[in-house]
Amino acid sequence: MIKDIADLQNKLQQLLLSQKNEVNSGQVAEYIPALAKVNPELMGVCVATIDGKIVGAGDYQQAFSIQSISKVFGLVMAMNRLGDSLWQRINMEPSGQPFNSIIQLEWEKGIPRNPVINAGALLIADVLASHYSSSKLAFRSNMRMLAGDESIQIDQEVYQSELSHGNRNAALTYLMKSFGNIEAEVPDVLSHYFTQCSIAMNCQQLAQSLLFLANKGIDPRTNKAICSPQDSHRVNAILSTSGMYDQSGEFAFSVGLPAKSGVGGGIVAVVPNYGVICAWSPPLNKFGNSVVGMNIIKGLAEELGLSIYH
Ligand code: DON
Repeated sequence: MIKDIADLQNKLQQLLLSQKNEVNSGQVAEYIPALAKVNPELMGVCVATIDGKIVGAGDYQQAFSIQSISKVFGLVMAMNRLGDSLWQRINMEPSGQPFNSIIQLEWEKGIPRNPVINAGALLIADVLASHYSSSKLAFRSNMRMLAGDESIQIDQEVYQSELSHGNRNAALTYLMKSFGNIEAEVPDVLSHYFTQCSIAMNCQQLAQSLLFLANKGIDPRTNKAICSPQDSHRVNAILSTSGMYDQSGEFAFSVGLPAKSGVGGGIVAVVPNYGVICAWSPPLNKFGNSVVGMNIIKGLAEELGLSIYH
């Protein structure tokens, strides 16, 4: 149980301290060279609540590459644009495969299993690239609006690095195009996808940006509807079943919160009707999830009794 803000702050600090040695049990993502340069010892955590509290510890104001966490924001934008017809082009089932797997996509005729594996996020990137005159600018504006911070930028070094190491994502997109499930030109889809992955944000900005998912689609700071209550429910459901890739079952089992990870080492977890937790530490486990990030969110969820399955 947490008594007040000072108590929560203390708890966050203790959790970070308890993880100092755990950074050695993971590996910083190396398949995108620009990400391999990040200091593995950095770590931070922030809790943003729907009643306006922000509590952080460690490097929670240090920007990092949001990577696959961007898939959550892209999905919401695409749902808003296409409505229910989106679900004719993409499914909502867990994949049971690594995030960048291609094998299932051919069996399933170019229909991605869900929007948070790479195939699905590339399909969503196609929806955005073909429905916005400038989808990259629209995406960045959306992030700035949600975070309430106009200084949010795309890290060009990460973008270039992804572009020159993006053959697997290109293969996924060409395969979907061969099944008629991609409308835009493949290089444009890839360019959009790598742009959104390369946005740099910190734990506080990410936690604040997702408060609408903890509040039935309404941004509690502005009272603006970011998506419908039904879509907020649907996104949380997808994050619960697939947001931690093929470790989603274990995460539900041990933590019990809708969550999304990225290979930059960030993890966001939504606590419906309470707020959002964002934890960051670059070393990843074999599933591509931050080792320390998962431990911190697990520790906090246990301490505060946050599981949605209670
Ligand atoms: O598609 C990629 O390789 C990256 N830009 C994003 C991957 C990612 O973050 C997967 N998450 N764990």
